[in-house]
Amino acid sequence: MSSLVVAVDGTSGSGKSSTCRAVAERLGLRYLDTGAMYRAVAWWMLQHDVNIYEVDEVAAHAATPRLESGTDPRNPTITLDGTDVSVEIRSDAVNAAVSPVSAVPAVRARLVELQRAAIGDGGIVVEGRDIGSVVWPQAQLKVYLTADPAARAARRALEAGSADVAATQESLLSRDRIDSSRAVSPLTMADGAVHIDTTDLSLAEVVDLVVGLATAPA
Ligand code: C5P
Repeated sequence: MSSLVVAVDGTSGSGKSSTCRAVAERLGLRYLDTGAMYRAVAWWMLQHDVNIYEVDEVAAHAATPRLESGTDPRNPTITLDGTDVSVEIRSDAVNAAVSPVSAVPAVRARLVELQRAAIGDGGIVVEGRDIGSVVWPQAQLKVYLTADPAARAARRALEAGSADVAATQESLLSRDRIDSSRAVSPLTMADGAVHIDTTDLSLAEVVDLVVGLATAPA
């Protein structure tokens, strides 16, 4: 079995999920969406009336939700206390809550531990914000994906069936601001990462680039 770990970080809406799933399928690897884990915790906090702007309150509950991530790239799932919440975690309410919740160090500590356990012996494509810098700095390939805000918002609005591209762009940029400025493991390009700007590239082109990097002789 492959021990390859491909770490893919980048800004919100830069095409990480579609790229990672396709790369994992092409290479016969597992897939881990760490953003879904942070989203699930944020959703749990909202469901349990936790004040997400109170760091101590969020930290006190950081270890409570029981999370499981399915790693099949054709059908990635995320369950919370045994219930699949893949749809719920994509709501506007979670979009707004996830960055404040994921800035809390106790939340990050717990999820990084779960992510490292899921990576295990490798054979996986992992997407997030801090995979190449914090979760798995020893990854054989690190990729950093970005795209122009307008392109990201247009893609995301299309996926979500929303006509409000301006609101989508503001939501993405707001998450980027919080993710890049937080004290613990901020969004940043990891040492040794390959930067790919996806603004003018199709999904197939980005996937080909990443598969090429992953299969190139060292
Ligand atoms: O990848 P996605 O956009 O679903 O991630 C949602 C949010 O989860 C990000 O905006 C960020 O706040 C948080 N996140 C994180 N670290 C990761 C993955 C996601 O802080 N490794």
